[in-house]
Amino acid sequence: MKSPVRVAVTGAAGQIGYALLFRIAAGDMLGADQPVILHLLEITPALPALQGVVMELNDCAFPTLAGVVATDDVNVAFKDVDYALLVGARPRGPGMERKDLLEANGAIFAPQGKALSDHAKRDVKVLVVGNPANTNALIAQQNAPSLDPKCFTAMVRLDHNRALSQLAEKTGAHTTDIKKVTIWGNHSSTQYPDIHHTTVKGKAATDLIDQAWYADTFIPVVQQRGAAIIKARGASSAASAASAAVDHMRSWALGTAEGDWVSMGIPSDGSYGIAPGVIYGYPVATKGGKYEIVQGLEINAFSRERMAATEKELREERAAVEHLFAK
Ligand code: NAI
Repeated sequence: MKSPVRVAVTGAAGQIGYALLFRIAAGDMLGADQPVILHLLEITPALPALQGVVMELNDCAFPTLAGVVATDDVNVAFKDVDYALLVGARPRGPGMERKDLLEANGAIFAPQGKALSDHAKRDVKVLVVGNPANTNALIAQQNAPSLDPKCFTAMVRLDHNRALSQLAEKTGAHTTDIKKVTIWGNHSSTQYPDIHHTTVKGKAATDLIDQAWYADTFIPVVQQRGAAIIKARGASSAASAASAAVDHMRSWALGTAEGDWVSMGIPSDGSYGIAPGVIYGYPVATKGGKYEIVQGLEINAFSRERMAATEKELREERAAVEHLFAK
């Protein structure tokens, strides 16, 4: 066994938290040889419920769970953490405008960014799940002056996995037969699921499906999958979101397979004409705990238009929260 690492999870008593903590504690995220100490953050009124979750975590007697810290103090939660999964966020209430939503989340993610900057390990890997995930990640990043901006990422992996699942169903393949899917842009309905470079059992996906299905069914189904799940289940996707969070962190920490990539919301560096200053979904390959954007992919006019639309939305979100950035 390696020595334990510290993993913070915010919103730990929420529904994603309940599906996520047990996976992390069981070793699904970092491996069966990597013990973890969980640092669980909740708001004060949710601490009793969180205590119940801690009791259950202990009762699982996981070999890889080396300790649990449960707190409502962000400075305690992020002390010396190697990983931080920021799940807790303010949901959109009735009649709430997007501007109010961004503002309410700014009040959560600005102090969390600062606390990470003050207390976390210098190479902390931060994943923002709480929506609007890309812009919440940007707010946290912009309030963390002492950390590398590349420490901050947002989750588009659930969209990536949804794209794999839709394409597998359509082509009669298994998700593991499918390589090189990309989710460009925002984790929102403007995201662009791109299969122009995708292979299914080694064959080009674009040769296996027709353009009309791609444009009129596949893309909207992936974009609207969250709403479809809410309609069917009466609650938002939690287990699949938690599973995608585990996948995102595992890929980042342990590396992507040779000849494949994953989608991560990361700080734009200008690649593919996306101007820096937003957290944008890109195809990335990871190695040794570092991610790199996959370069040199051909982008046609169909893709370019959709990549620009989701970039525009992210720029507008950025403009709405810029006043929350630390000077
Ligand atoms: P939930 O409402 O069940 O749980 C959220 C938890 O966060 C609550 O227990 C709440 O007390 C806690 N919380 C609120 N403010 C906090 C703060 N300042 N510090 C610590 N904890 C805080 O919600 P659920 O279903 O677990 O979803 C969490 C977030 O994840 C939502 O914003 C949701 O929209 C988002 N989400 C993102 C997805 C993605 O693909 N990026 C997919 C699915 C959900």
